Amino acid sequence: MNIGILGLGYVGIVNVACFSKLGHKVYCTDVKNFKVDQVKAGKSPIVEPEIDQLLHEGLSKGLIIATSDPGEVVKNAELLIVCVGTPSKPNGEVNTSYIHNAVVEIARFLNPGDKKFIAFRSTVPPGTTEAICNHYLSGFADVTALFFPEFLREGSAVKDFFEYGRCVIGCDSHSQIQRLAEVLHVCKEAPLFITDLKTAEYSKYIDNSFHALKVVFANEIFGLANDLGVNVEDAHKIFTADNKLNISSRYFRPGMPFGGSCLPKDVREVQHLLNKSDRSFSILNNLIPSNEQYINRLYEQIVSTGKKKITLIGLTFKNYSDDLRESPVLKLLNSLLELGIDDISIWDEDLNMETVRIDFAHLYLKVKTFEEAMRHGELVVVSKRYLDMVLKNRNHSQVILNFSDKQYSQEAGITNLFG
Ligand SMILES: NC(=O)c1ccc[n+]([C@@H]2O[C@H](COP(=O)([O-])OP(=O)(O)OC[C@H]3O[C@@H](n4cnc5c(N)ncnc54)[C@H](O)[C@@H]3O)[C@@H](O)[C@H]2O)c1
Repeated sequence: MNIGILGLGYVGIVNVACFSKLGHKVYCTDVKNFKVDQVKAGKSPIVEPEIDQLLHEGLSKGLIIATSDPGEVVKNAELLIVCVGTPSKPNGEVNTSYIHNAVVEIARFLNPGDKKFIAFRSTVPPGTTEAICNHYLSGFADVTALFFPEFLREGSAVKDFFEYGRCVIGCDSHSQIQRLAEVLHVCKEAPLFITDLKTAEYSKYIDNSFHALKVVFANEIFGLANDLGVNVEDAHKIFTADNKLNISSRYFRPGMPFGGSCLPKDVREVQHLLNKSDRSFSILNNLIPSNEQYINRLYEQIVSTGKKKITLIGLTFKNYSDDLRESPVLKLLNSLLELGIDDISIWDEDLNMETVRIDFAHLYLKVKTFEEAMRHGELVVVSKRYLDMVLKNRNHSQVILNFSDKQYSQEAGITNLFG
């Protein structure tokens, strides 16, 4: 395929080199002429292993055409890839003006009937691609916009281009997307996700925020380890060796706040230990407050429905456990009772009624059969694995708040965890 690349920085040059290695003809340009001249001479504008050699190979096979004329790129390429910078403004907001300029430039050289794809690789907030395309490209019905987030790391960019964890392609119109995916998704062993533009745009921010969180968390938790006389190297090895619970997707889901007998207690002790150190621990110190704020948010969501007859489906802190210690739903329930909302029915098949009878006597009579509980509430709050059961048995005047981590469709007529 003939590919056009706008921007010859860290991302652009890697895409030029790697797509040419795959046999595509790559037209490329940059507003900085010296970068174009460098590429013409087979010299990478940035330091990155393997790039110079790939540029030499591409140029000698006639597969790389560097030009200062964006018109040459637009006219010759079926797929344009935008790799211009999106730096921060002083207020922290991302500056998308380079993308606007690049798209204005592209539109200048498009003819109304042109069939082209434009893939945006620059990192932008959700909604940007759609807004920019609506603004500048609405007159070009056969131009399809994609968001194709770049996941490479500088220093191993070529390797990351060919071997990545997964490929994400965002597109709001799916015609011909499979054909394009063949070209863009170069590592066939990795999973491919074709999604909408906003989700693809946001996926990059999830990744980078999580990477940042990992760095900060590691510095805090191992800094504390050091101060407590723990062997940091061993402790790090021990933590990372567990790829079942630690380095894994376990516990990484949007759902109920954490609770139970271990996490709150142990995090509180870590917080206690922090006080003995002279380091600052913004992340660790905020675990409990953040969790509490989240429980408050769910409480406010319940109260804001204005419903006074409430059914709670799920009460223990997690599926397949009868443990009620520090269950977030129990906290919600107690807050509702304190507010005077006490017309409440509870059902949870994991409950141990002996425990409820002895330790939570005030709740004993509120526990009903599933059918009774479902008949009771004007509002049904689901916090565990019972969403499907609830949706099958609801009556349609009931408001459903789904606080479980189960995915559900918007059409189900329920309000999710995030309101
Ligand atoms: N650097 C990375 O590791 C990395 C990884 C993933 C995603 N990203 C994202 O990719 C984007 C590009 O990052 P980068 O590090 O390559 O930036 P960069 O600043 O190194 O390169 C951007 C290039 O675009 C050029 N440019 C600006 N306007 C142009 C236009 N109208 N036409 C042609 N060229 C133009 C600039 O002269 C510059 O050479 C950013 O949004 C960044 O967040 C970067």
